[in-house]
Amino acid sequence: MAPQLVVRACPPFRVAGQGAAKAVAGLERRAGELLDRPELERARAMVPRARVDFLAGRLAQRLLAAELLGVRAQNLAASYSCPQCGTGPDVPHGRPGYTLDGVPVPLLLSLSRAAGWTLLAAVTAPAAGQRLGVDAEDPQRMDFDGFDTVALTPAERHAVASLGGTALLRGRALLWARKEAFLKMTGEGLKRPPEALDVLARAGVRDLAPAESGLPEQLVAAVALG
Ligand SMILES: CC(C)(COP(=O)(O)OP(=O)(O)OC[C@H]1O[C@@H](n2cnc3c(N)ncnc32)[C@H](O)[C@@H]1OP(=O)(O)O)[C@@H](O)C(=O)NCCC(=O)NCCS
Repeated sequence: MAPQLVVRACPPFRVAGQGAAKAVAGLERRAGELLDRPELERARAMVPRARVDFLAGRLAQRLLAAELLGVRAQNLAASYSCPQCGTGPDVPHGRPGYTLDGVPVPLLLSLSRAAGWTLLAAVTAPAAGQRLGVDAEDPQRMDFDGFDTVALTPAERHAVASLGGTALLRGRALLWARKEAFLKMTGEGLKRPPEALDVLARAGVRDLAPAESGLPEQLVAAVALG
């Protein structure tokens, strides 16, 4: 079976308005049933909005993994990999992964949250050594002085120099999404200086248009596979 990329966008979880309190209670109950202890412990330390986004994203990721593997979500055990803390059931952060009966499942996973949305990517039947990273960004968050200096290489700065207004914010967000997707793929995260990582034409990194990502037009996304 050839490796296959699956991308899925999950809309924001509503925390205000009619029926929201009941929905949040339902989310908490489902999380308590399906998520593992280190995931729930990490959620416990978060403020309410972040906690809801975290739980909803982790649940969606687990349900997608179960669906793609054809197994029950409660039979999967989270097994995250952090470059500093290692890999295993007690690691609550880093690169996502699951085990089934103690064996790592044949599935690559990556997750990103932006503007309440969760973007999930998975590769089924991955080749040996293959890695995946995905990132979603809200261009509205790129509107601050100094972004280009701290985030972009000289060539990238040149590429956005002629842009203004929303085109500039979107251009910045696209480059930033490519960088984070690549840094999730390698597992380094932002420990590697982003302003030294050129993503104008980096092999394995590409933008995800809304038609493919399922995100609304105002958000941008990128995937890295290699
Ligand atoms: C990876 C990183 C760039 C993502 O940043 P972000 O914009 O805040 O968040 P996003 O919503 O796009 O992505 C979050 C997801 O990235 C993934 N992720 C985190 N670290 C990762 C890593 N090293 N490799 C691959 N994926 C990673 C997780 O799935 C996380 O989801 P979670 O919140 O459910 O755990 C950033 O968190 C980072 O640089 N982390 C590494 C820092 C590090 O190594 N710290 C050491 C801790 S001991």
